[in-house]
Amino acid sequence: MSCICSINSISSFSALSSSPRKSIPKPPIVHCSLPGTVAEPKTASVAEPLLLNAVRGENVERPPVWLMRQAGRYMKSYQTICEKYPSFRERSENVDLVVEISLQPWNVFKPDGVILFSDILTPLSGMNIPFDIVKGKGPVIFNPLHTAADVDQVREFVPEESVPYVGKSLTILRKEVDNKAAVLGFVGAPFTLASYVVEGGSSKHFSKIKRLAFSEPKVLHTLLQKFATSMAKYIQYQAKNGAQAVQIFDSWATELSPVDFEEFSLPYLKQIVDTVRKTHPNLPLILYASGSGGLLERLALTGVDVVSLDWTVDMAEGRRRLGPNLAVQGNVDPGVLFGSKEFITNRINDVVRKAGKGKHILNLGHGIIVGTPEENVAHFFEVAKGIRY
Ligand code: CP3
Repeated sequence: MSCICSINSISSFSALSSSPRKSIPKPPIVHCSLPGTVAEPKTASVAEPLLLNAVRGENVERPPVWLMRQAGRYMKSYQTICEKYPSFRERSENVDLVVEISLQPWNVFKPDGVILFSDILTPLSGMNIPFDIVKGKGPVIFNPLHTAADVDQVREFVPEESVPYVGKSLTILRKEVDNKAAVLGFVGAPFTLASYVVEGGSSKHFSKIKRLAFSEPKVLHTLLQKFATSMAKYIQYQAKNGAQAVQIFDSWATELSPVDFEEFSLPYLKQIVDTVRKTHPNLPLILYASGSGGLLERLALTGVDVVSLDWTVDMAEGRRRLGPNLAVQGNVDPGVLFGSKEFITNRINDVVRKAGKGKHILNLGHGIIVGTPEENVAHFFEVAKGIRY
């Protein structure tokens, strides 16, 4: 694919705190002349957020941009809230805090997507799987599931009863953001959720879930089925309450070899997509799995609208492998945000050029890393929002 991008103005971005911006120099404008790498654009509808228009293949002037984990520990304003409310569960289950934290990056950077502040594990307590997220340790499942009897105890999720704060928060976010950006919901994919509840938390070798998968597959399938039914309902609930697109995180699916992905992840992802399509045919679904270079074509088989690439895949190659009908998201290395402003600018332009015009949501290839300078995040958004195809 050949695409010629020219940068009209180069700016340096002054240091930025979490307070509102003062005077902002003009970001570089990138003009791209692109061959037909994606399906022909339709006419954009004005009232809809840019992110939705881009996913639908409408004629957009630039790629929409948001960042995975854009709300969180790299922001000083988030750390201030953490001092006052040290419990992650409280921060993510109290409507006022959820709304405030979700809006922190919105207020400062004006991304094109505002993601709900929550966690993929949030539904677990409503499924009778007690957990916590412990500072310095990460997710902890108090009674990891290993046997058929353990899996029997898992209740199907009823979002209205278990997480009413999620619906309320999404509704408020929709009002606050007012279609100037898309409000994004998210869920964990069945295999990734299963890996947490079987391993008891984060894992290096995933040996416990693999032992279950490869010695008692029926037990794992029963658990995966419960998560698939529950997460489909959860997406529908999020959409009903204001989410305009939903991202499915199958972060650990790539720990599976392709043949095992086809057995333990793909069918459940497909089932979720098919179920949601019946009630919300126009809700864009985004699928992310980290380290998914070996599985890209299989991710496309799930039927999602957008595949989110991590940074180990070249964007142009990813686009080619996924074909013109799917939208892509990504995929700047989160580590780039530790680089110089010029380096960040160049990498953004490289990804945008390789993704081609339309059907691209600019993002990182995984979540923002703790310690990322906020001024570099500000620079990322300034450059991204100054791009013109
Ligand atoms: O993108 C956003 O800004 C929305 C917020 C969000 C969080 N978690 C908040 C959070 C999202 C989208 C997630 C998803 C999530 N949670 C995933 C999928 C994405 C990925 O990284 O692949 C996974 C695997 C989890 C499970 C989880 N929760 C982990 C591994 C951790 C990190 C543990 C640690 O301490 O490093 C969490 C905790 C978590 N979730 C934090 C945040 C901001 C950090 C803890 C804190 O702020 O106190």
